[in-house]
Amino acid sequence: MNRPDALNALDVPHAEALRDRLVELSADEAARVVILTGAGDKAFAAGADIKYMSSLGVLEARRWGELGQGCANLLEVMPKPTIAVINGFALGGGCELALACDMRLASTRALLGQPEINLGVIPGWGGTQRLARVTSIGFAKELVLTGRTVDAAEAFRRGLVNAVHEPGDVMPKALELGHSLAEKSPLATAYAKEALNVVAMGEQHAHLETEERLFAMLFASEDQKEGMAAFVEKREPRFTGR
Ligand code: CAA
Repeated sequence: MNRPDALNALDVPHAEALRDRLVELSADEAARVVILTGAGDKAFAAGADIKYMSSLGVLEARRWGELGQGCANLLEVMPKPTIAVINGFALGGGCELALACDMRLASTRALLGQPEINLGVIPGWGGTQRLARVTSIGFAKELVLTGRTVDAAEAFRRGLVNAVHEPGDVMPKALELGHSLAEKSPLATAYAKEALNVVAMGEQHAHLETEERLFAMLFASEDQKEGMAAFVEKREPRFTGR
C-alpha cells in the first residue's frame, strides 16, 4: 500500500489497485507467497480514507464496504500464503487487511486497532468477524467498542500478530518465512489453507454481509457525519445518537 502522505490510508483508486494486484497475484503461479506491507516507515495502513468517506451516502458506503471486503477476502482465500508485514499504524481497514492475511509479523513500532467507533461507524472490511476469530470475542469487543489502539507487545500476547521484530528485521524475517513457505508443495499448501479456512470461517459469508449492511446503514446517521467531520477538522466529535 503506497500512499505515505496519508499514512497509506486507502481511497478508491488505491483500494482498486490493491484489489487488481491481488487478483493478478492470486492467479500467478510464479508467485508462491504474497507479502502485504505499507510504504514508508510509519504505517502499514491507517485505514480507509476518512476524508473520502465523510460525505458518502448509504449506497456508496455499501459499495465501499464491498471493495474493502473484496480485498480482504482475496488475501484470505487466494491459494497461497499471505503475510502482513505491519511496519507501523494498522488501524481500521489497515488492521482488517492484516487480519485477513494468513500470518502477521509486526515491527516493535506497530500500533493496531479498530478505532471506527470514534468516527461514529463500525469496522466494515471484515474486522468484526476476523478480529474475534483471530483473538477472542472478548478482546474483539474491547477493541471495537473502545477504539483502543494496542502496541506490538500486547498484540503478540493476544495472538493478534504471530511475531514481533525490530523495525529493520521485520521484512527480512518475512522474506525468510516466505522463502521457507515457497519450498513446500504448492498443492499441499493451497489445500492446507483451504481446509483451515473452512474450519475457521463457519458462516462467515453471511456474517460479513451483516457487517457490511450495518456499516453502510450508519452512513445515514448524523453521528457518522459528525465523527468524520471531527477527524477532518482535527477536533473531538460530539455524538447525539441520531
Ligand atoms: N484517512 C484519511 N487521511 C488520513 C487517515 C485516514 N484514515 N489517517 C491519516 N490520515 C492523514 C491525516 O489526515 C494527515 O493528513 P494531513 O497532513 O493532510 O492533515 C496525514 O495522514 C498524517 O496523519 P496525522 O497528521 O494525523 O499523523 P499523526 O501521526 O498525528 O496521527 C494517526 C496518526 C493516529 C494514525 C491518525 O492519523 C489517525 O488517527 N488516523 C485515523 C485512523 C482511523 O481512524 N482509521 C480508521 C478509518 S475508518 C475505517 O478504516 C473504516 C473501515 O473499517 C473500512
